[in-house]
Amino acid sequence: MIVSAPHGINPNIPHSARVYDYWLGGKDNFEADRRVAEATMAAVPGVRESARNNRAFLGRAVRHLTKLGVRQFLDLGTGIPTQGNTHEVAQAEAPDARVVYVDNDPIVMNHARALLSSTPEGRTAYIEADVRDPRSILDHPQVRETLDFTQPVALMMVAILMHISDADDPAGLVKAYADAVPSGSYLVLSHLTLDFLPKKTADDYLEATRHQAMHRTPRTGEQIARYFDGFDLLEPGLVAVSAWPEPSVTSDTPKWMYAGVGRKR
Ligand SMILES: C[S@@+](CC[C@H](N)C(=O)[O-])C[C@H]1O[C@@H](n2cnc3c(N)ncnc32)[C@H](O)[C@@H]1O
Repeated sequence: MIVSAPHGINPNIPHSARVYDYWLGGKDNFEADRRVAEATMAAVPGVRESARNNRAFLGRAVRHLTKLGVRQFLDLGTGIPTQGNTHEVAQAEAPDARVVYVDNDPIVMNHARALLSSTPEGRTAYIEADVRDPRSILDHPQVRETLDFTQPVALMMVAILMHISDADDPAGLVKAYADAVPSGSYLVLSHLTLDFLPKKTADDYLEATRHQAMHRTPRTGEQIARYFDGFDLLEPGLVAVSAWPEPSVTSDTPKWMYAGVGRKR
């Protein structure tokens, strides 16, 4: 648990990176974050498991793409480093893998060292930026130095778009990143949904989170599938996070997240 807030961080405003960190069992969170995390857990079942399932999906997807030959990853909405960060998973398979991490929570920067511990053959970079401003990321010198945009790049948008409101045009943002990478690139995406839940659980969730000072927009499978416009979904398509790429032993826990991986045409 953090006792005093690092420079640039307001500990009184809950932030998704720290709420998620709490659910994953981390210690980089404040009272305000824990309140939101606990209140959500108390109101609805399976939220913490869902966070863990989401993280496990990230690892499986990175491993899968690395085996397919992908060597470059742009990880948008990185989160506080935890076990199985993108470069660790990718470089375990392919030491020459290159990863750029992006997050807008200054607390993630405090852990940049953990994100930058690359193999000698590979490369990692971290930039603090807002995914709602694609040009600031795609034109960033560190991004350009680390990634070669003439070669396939895996765009990682794992549990991030649910923090982007409709007013910020999440589909337009995905397109902006997708337009910057060549054919044969990939989109790895997971997203909060209420589709799998009984109506009462979904209503309880909306009620419990309505007044929380942390923005989340659950979306339907149909809405989320549209983010893959221009991509061919790999098997098994858009499914619950725990069921990608295979139905998992955890599949009977309540499902809160969709996941999919698409290949750019
Ligand atoms: C739920 S966490 C997901 C972390 C990681 N992608 C994973 O799935 O394990 C969401 C992350 O997105 C970051 N985030 C939210 N809105 C963002 C924005 N507009 N720009 C950049 N990062 C953002 C948060 O700080 C947080 O670290």
